[in-house]
Amino acid sequence: MIPIAKTIARIREYVAQARAAGKTVGFVPTMGALHAGHASLIEAAARRCDYVVVSIFVNPTQFGPGEDLEKYPRPFEKDVQVCERCGAHAIFAPSAEEMYPRKNSTWVTVEKLTEPLCGRFRPGHFRGVTTVCTKLFNIVGADVAFFGQKDAQQATVIRRMVADLNMPLEIVVCPTVREPDGLAMSSRNQYLSPQERSQAPVIYRALQRCGEMIKAGEQNAAKITEGMSEVLRQVPALQVEYVSIVDAESLEPCDRVRGQVLVAVAARLGSTRLIDNIRVDTTVK
Ligand code: PAJ
Repeated sequence: MIPIAKTIARIREYVAQARAAGKTVGFVPTMGALHAGHASLIEAAARRCDYVVVSIFVNPTQFGPGEDLEKYPRPFEKDVQVCERCGAHAIFAPSAEEMYPRKNSTWVTVEKLTEPLCGRFRPGHFRGVTTVCTKLFNIVGADVAFFGQKDAQQATVIRRMVADLNMPLEIVVCPTVREPDGLAMSSRNQYLSPQERSQAPVIYRALQRCGEMIKAGEQNAAKITEGMSEVLRQVPALQVEYVSIVDAESLEPCDRVRGQVLVAVAARLGSTRLIDNIRVDTTVK
């Protein structure tokens, strides 16, 4: 059985033992309800590092009022099996009291990069993410941490935080894992009704339309986002939050698609918020 640490002291003991044996340490932070996207990160960590820690913690500080903190799925036994099957060596599953024993007064904030895209629709979300990731990085003390491209803005923000604050670890970003119909895997997909589930792949089809337009030589970002919106309108129930083309590093809006760009969509289907993105490199033929 894979060891499960519920306390900070215990996971530090496990990692210290691995270090004493000369092992490199990989870390995959998650909120549980693990799916094939998470599995791909754990497997990447297991290929790269000798000892892999997965954290399972539904972090309250990154949820806004009225968001899904209470109903967020917590299938712990199943998650333990996924971790074991994918080659993890330890699970860190702290309680909210263990992580936040007192009212938090120290926060890590990344400016600018957290303002556009999801930052506009989820105030305070990234402050919660960067604060909990800093805490987790300090607790686990890994050499490498693995994040998914699915949450592109999160990955960019974390990379920047690690660089700006000289945190002693490497960040690896792994490709988005999708369902056969293109829908990006997400713990939140299980909120979708059967009808919504059949409609949700429209987001990926819009991203594909974007890829086709760029391949055909279109560079005007407004024209491309309009082409994508046309696809998204095929599902009238979809409430689009944004369709944006931004520079992949600065996340600033682009008028012309040139170099490395991130094309990102966020939309609500019923009460479920879905995000997806693709990275396009126009310098690669
Ligand atoms: P969570 O949503 O559980 O995601 C954990 C990691 O899995 C993130 O790095 C995310 O980008 C990645 N991931 C999710 N879906 C994916 C997919 N379809 N393909 C590839 N990777 C995918 O992101 C969080 O948790 C939290 O914000 C966290 C970083 C743990 C901080 O609380």
